[in-house]
Amino acid sequence: MRIKNILLGAFLTAGISASAQDNTITVETAKLGAPVQPTMYGIFFEDINYAADGGLYAELVINRSFEFPNPFAGWDISGKVTLQNDGPFDKNPHYVRLAPSGHNDKHTMIENHGFFGMGLKKGAAYRFTVWARCPEGGNSKIWIDLVDNATMGEDQKLGNGGIEVSGKEWKKYTLVLKAGKTIERAHLRVWGDSRVTTDLEHVSLFPVDTYNGDENGMRKDLAQALFDMKPGVFRFPGGCIVEGTDLATRYQWKNTVGPVENRPLNENRWHYTFTSRYYPNYFQSYGLGFYEYFRLSEQIGAEPLPVLNVGMSCQFQNNIRNEKKVHVAIEDLQPYIDDCIDLIEFANGDPAKNKWAALRAEMGHPAPFNLKYLGVGNEQWDYKDNKAFSKRLKVFMDAIRKVHPEIKLIGTSGPNSEGEDFDLGWTAMKELKADLVDEHFYRNINWFKNEMYRYDEYDRKGPKVFAGEYACHDSGKKYNHAGASIYEAAFMTNLEKNADIVHMATYAPLFAHVEGWQWRPDAIWFDNLRSAKTVSYHVQALYAQNKGTHVLKTTLATPTPKGQDGIFSSAVYDKEQDEVIVKVVNTTEKAQQVDIQLQGKKAIARVNTISLDCSDYDMENTVDNPNAIVPVQGTAKAEGSLIKATIPAKTFVIYKAK
Ligand code: AHR
Repeated sequence: MRIKNILLGAFLTAGISASAQDNTITVETAKLGAPVQPTMYGIFFEDINYAADGGLYAELVINRSFEFPNPFAGWDISGKVTLQNDGPFDKNPHYVRLAPSGHNDKHTMIENHGFFGMGLKKGAAYRFTVWARCPEGGNSKIWIDLVDNATMGEDQKLGNGGIEVSGKEWKKYTLVLKAGKTIERAHLRVWGDSRVTTDLEHVSLFPVDTYNGDENGMRKDLAQALFDMKPGVFRFPGGCIVEGTDLATRYQWKNTVGPVENRPLNENRWHYTFTSRYYPNYFQSYGLGFYEYFRLSEQIGAEPLPVLNVGMSCQFQNNIRNEKKVHVAIEDLQPYIDDCIDLIEFANGDPAKNKWAALRAEMGHPAPFNLKYLGVGNEQWDYKDNKAFSKRLKVFMDAIRKVHPEIKLIGTSGPNSEGEDFDLGWTAMKELKADLVDEHFYRNINWFKNEMYRYDEYDRKGPKVFAGEYACHDSGKKYNHAGASIYEAAFMTNLEKNADIVHMATYAPLFAHVEGWQWRPDAIWFDNLRSAKTVSYHVQALYAQNKGTHVLKTTLATPTPKGQDGIFSSAVYDKEQDEVIVKVVNTTEKAQQVDIQLQGKKAIARVNTISLDCSDYDMENTVDNPNAIVPVQGTAKAEGSLIKATIPAKTFVIYKAK
């Protein structure tokens, strides 16, 4: 009997590919399906690829507090410069002393290289700030230059000014400079006084024109790209940096709030994770910390989703069999649990009643941030029956739920998209009644083809799904190109169809500096002046901008067999716009006729379309050519309730019917 069925199946499959495919998509518009969660499509942020320092965080000075293991990393010094370590900020005690050189023709100066240089724009204003004093008393004058070291001109300066420093007390000084030309690799020079010794700490330079004008702000084009996407959720701060390489280097949010001058430096594990792309000067200044992440979530209209450490270091980088040695013992988890509970207070608490909430108010946000979700653990898993992750997560969940039952807790099924560890993870998450389970899949095209119906069979009664990190990595071609992005678009029809259980999905990683990346593909690339939204970014944005409010059932007359190229579709209704939105992805090599039948509608007044042509397999959007592939608006014709369309090869089209 089984053999007969297999043969019949094989015969049918052969029959499908031989005969003409019927691409009629029936959309049942009369009955609304599950609501599409406002959080459905969002953003995963991690400080990888210089995404934070040197990227989204608009600070232009690297190692501004002289706290790198090599305190002068990123700096050139000349004349009499010495490092001191009894500065005004206890968590960043280093500062520099600029003493007179003792000779008229010798000069004391420090010069910062920025992150791969500093990108400056002609006519734009830059805010230089420094903490300074004259340790021996008196007044001094320091000079600040923006310079182009590579110029053939007479003068390297492209903007400069001076600051009078007075007295023995540490004070903050500010000077706004204008750049005389656009340059990708400027440096910053600070000259000491030739007569009076001057101490400098926290030397900083920001564009005045940051996103929303915030002083400790974000780079405008990069933050704008996030806003443009209309993300529903913003996950931060990672990724593997949540775990660190070891517990000492895990991300600790309490070190990232309060005055920026006193946020201690942390390693960034991406500086050494790959010896093939090694970045010895990659650290986390925490200038972009949890307060800034919450603010940014608010500014871009996304629900904040912080992920905290579960008392475990990175299982990839430590001996998973020897879990007791590398992770926190169950009885010692309390400080980690406190971090979670205190974070909820920092985000939502009453400043009059809680010190973390009071700090939020002091930092400028008395109103709560309305935190609803908390991830505990990044890529953690149980190794066979050691329950390394789940037994720790249980302790966290019990404690958090006792005081904050309103917060939805997110567990994880680990780094694998299937297999023994993945299954163990899901079983444990069900037992623990996690609200959502964070799944990760960086996989090739064949995997995506095979998983086009992944969520159809998922248990409807268990936790909801958070597809927290995913991207199509093609088959060994780990770079952004349209040939991979089309499979992301096709796969996302399945996320959308299953919006009753898939509540969040975030492509990853988000950002990459063209000179500082460790991992690709990524959603947005940038250099010091420019940025490019990749085709994968556009896929994400098109879904997020057209997510609708309710799923509509779609049926394709000839469904694509598992593992094959074909037509994939999903549909939603948008209550606010009174619009039916149908997404169709043609992953095949040829144009396809598609009939979209809106069952339950008598007539369609108008159909607007947006299409993304991914047919040029290797094409990518780069900082040099950012608009090689962009969404194109159009219209389609309808006859009654039928939309008849031809979808070009490897193209993603959205039909918006009124
Ligand atoms: O996104 C890059 C890395 O991939 C993340 O840090 C980690 O969670 C995953 O392994």
